[in-house]
Amino acid sequence: VVAGSVAARLLTWYDRHHRDLPWRMPPKAIAAGQRPDPYHVWLSEIMLQQTTVEAVKPYFRAFLARWPNVKSLAAAETEDVMKAWAGLGYYSRARNLKKCADLLAAEHGGRFPDTEDGLRALPGVGSYTAAAIAAIAFNRPAAVVDGNVERVVSRLYAIETPLPAAKAEIRDIVARLLPVDRPGDFAQATMDLGATICTPRRPACLPCPLRDDCHASDDGDPERFPVKAAK
Ligand code: ADE
Repeated sequence: VVAGSVAARLLTWYDRHHRDLPWRMPPKAIAAGQRPDPYHVWLSEIMLQQTTVEAVKPYFRAFLARWPNVKSLAAAETEDVMKAWAGLGYYSRARNLKKCADLLAAEHGGRFPDTEDGLRALPGVGSYTAAAIAAIAFNRPAAVVDGNVERVVSRLYAIETPLPAAKAEIRDIVARLLPVDRPGDFAQATMDLGATICTPRRPACLPCPLRDDCHASDDGDPERFPVKAAK
């Protein structure tokens, strides 16, 4: 498997088949030098942590309409933010969202840090979210690994090590595959592939851009991956 060609095939597929999502800057705009607003990326990634894309869309739009930037969210009443979050669940996310906006407004001039380490220091921002914001908003070569990415990579390399033990190996592979020129698109392409093609059940290997590279597809039983540790 040639690392450069995996990323190249995935990105070519993403250019054609990417999902249009309200928080996403399409690949053409990225290629033209535009970047998404870090506030949009942060807000969407927090909302998407434990909630599906379809459920997040209306909440994301409502939050942006009411609080279009960090400073307006910092100026909001916590109670109003909690009420607007109602229905999304996992309310600690909303409390941390408000805390994070307050901190950014008070100490960072309302701007986000542009490094993974700086982002990880913010309330409610863990390793995954820090990597996602760094790659998508700031074009940093961060390895973004969520459940979708774990599935895609564990199939691509037919990784027999069960999750969660395989996480370190998967992260190293993603870091190696990363195209330095398009890390944000690469992260989102991997997520889209995992959501639409390399699905948990009955993956659609036929149209998959990585089929020729994929050891699990070769094997004839891609659903066997990721291998889960026995309970
Ligand atoms: N799930 C989490 N983050 C996402 C993103 N940026 N695009 C699509 N699905 C996601």
